[in-house]
Amino acid sequence: MSRLTSGLFLGLLAQEAAAWGNLGHETVGYVAQQFLAPKALSFVQSSLGSTYSESLGVAATWADTVKYETAYEWSAPLHFVDANDNPPTSCSVEETRDCGDGDCILVAIANYTTRVAETSLSATQRQEALKFIDHFLGDIGQPLHVENYEVGGNDIDAKCSGSSTNLHAAWDTGMLTKNVDANHGSSATTYANYLVGEIQSGQYKSLTSSWLSCTSITEAVNNKRDAPSIENDIRNLLEARAEDATAKITPLECPLVWAREANAYDCTVVFPFSTNEDACTGTYYSNAIPVIDLQLAKQGYRLAAWLNVIFDGATSLP
Ligand SMILES: *[C@@H]1O[C@H](CO)[C@@H](O)[C@H](O)[C@H]1NC(C)=O
Ligand SMILES: [Zn+2]
Repeated sequence: MSRLTSGLFLGLLAQEAAAWGNLGHETVGYVAQQFLAPKALSFVQSSLGSTYSESLGVAATWADTVKYETAYEWSAPLHFVDANDNPPTSCSVEETRDCGDGDCILVAIANYTTRVAETSLSATQRQEALKFIDHFLGDIGQPLHVENYEVGGNDIDAKCSGSSTNLHAAWDTGMLTKNVDANHGSSATTYANYLVGEIQSGQYKSLTSSWLSCTSITEAVNNKRDAPSIENDIRNLLEARAEDATAKITPLECPLVWAREANAYDCTVVFPFSTNEDACTGTYYSNAIPVIDLQLAKQGYRLAAWLNVIFDGATSLP
């Protein structure tokens, strides 16, 4: 293998081991695009322009492409939060413990939320903020992006339909690609349309209001604070910025709830796994696919709600 091909090969491997693959991110973006309220849609279309076919689906993978470029190396830690829990025995995400240095997906979502709304920034800066939000709302729903154990599963050898891989990559791409090839015409748009149908009139219809509520199944209700909601998160954040543009960016309630929700799957479906097991067959696969479908549908819907609150002032969703 020439040096060039081996470099390319390593690059591809690294990319594969790093995030919901392109298919997952595009799916989240295409789902979200169908639920945008008028002002959010108009901003998305004009900001992304023809470069991205005015589509959150197309723009969703930009953040993964640039993180390998020297100019954007700083953004690599923003794609995840290293939960220092103990799966499969106990799962949890804690802001201070897991994102104490502020360099994680929880802070990144807050930061790019203020930036996408900031009219004094340039069109390029706001487009970049939009592309980061588009991407990070996908990553935060991937159970292995909210987990430190074995480098988010990267260090656990696995198989997918007989090929060698690792557990993280099996979740990012292996199982998802197999499912979309088998059941959704190998196409992110076909798959996204299927998930949108399930949201509008299928298995997810009764769940969507709970997806937007930001109440955690694992967290006791804290009466001292306003009930967490997407509206409160964004209003509090933007008000604090308006009062003091230098105010420290702190993580928000809803992304923390979403991270905990995804992380809880590490204890139930992800890490009950034997090294070198084939993740793409049998019970492991059949337990994982409904979780992957759900997480992608949910994060796409939440992405739309998030942008709708920023630009239209309400989730504008049932
Ligand atoms: C927010 O994003 C900007 C632009 O990428 C970056 O320069 C800044 O360091 C970020 N702030 C925080 C607190 O992450
Ligand atoms: Zn990513």
